[in-house]
Amino acid sequence: MNLTLKIWRQKDSSAKGQMVDYKVTDISEHMSFLEMMDVLNEQLVGSGDDPVAFDHDCREGICGMCSMYINGEAHGPDRGVTTCQLHMRMFKDGDTITIEPFRAAAFPVIKDLVVDRTSFERIQQAGGYISVNTSGNTQDANAIPISKHDADEAMDAATCIGCGACVATCKNSSAMLFVGAKVSQYALLPQGQVEAADRVQNMVAQMDLEGFGNCTNTGACEIECPKGISLDNIARLNRELMKAAVK
Ligand code: SF4
Ligand code: FES
Repeated sequence: MNLTLKIWRQKDSSAKGQMVDYKVTDISEHMSFLEMMDVLNEQLVGSGDDPVAFDHDCREGICGMCSMYINGEAHGPDRGVTTCQLHMRMFKDGDTITIEPFRAAAFPVIKDLVVDRTSFERIQQAGGYISVNTSGNTQDANAIPISKHDADEAMDAATCIGCGACVATCKNSSAMLFVGAKVSQYALLPQGQVEAADRVQNMVAQMDLEGFGNCTNTGACEIECPKGISLDNIARLNRELMKAAVK
């Protein structure tokens, strides 16, 4: 396939960015999107130009690093996949592909397609944990019986990889799906109850402090989430917050 790429180039966080056109040729439909970007960067390095900066790590849908907005969709046109799992067979010979960073005030651009998502880390640090004494003999993981339904729901919530596609997709730049998933993975389990009230209040306070917007129930986040995190987690987040306020 021969393709035209329109890519956001921005030297650093304070520079004014712009879209720049590139051509790539002989792209195999079996390549991943990031492999196609590697081909472009080899081309740019070969001609003495600055390669396009983009985030990636695992390249198998686990780490949540590959934050690209492709043809107006977070992680591109496929469903249930991250950018690194997106294959070039989703495109046609002669296509023009627009590639931008995830855009949100709380995700400032560092360079080109790389954004700073440490706001997510700070939300997680505000309460996304349980406190367990691990000195001496640790308790067997299976010592507390948990219903299959709750275990499954908690596991589903825990599959959130913190990629930020929900924020980039939301017209309000809301992080409620991410925070809902991170609160739910503990709220559904007995181990998460002791710190439940502090957790939800601190994580929501940090979310607001970071400048994420409010949820207005458009549901766009759920559609673009590569891990299929359900809107039910936002409802649970709101219930947990109300329970904490009453407490
Ligand atoms: S909820 Fe989905 S889209 Fe949002 S950070 Fe988690 S995995 Fe990414
Ligand atoms: S590079 Fe890790 S999820 Fe895409």
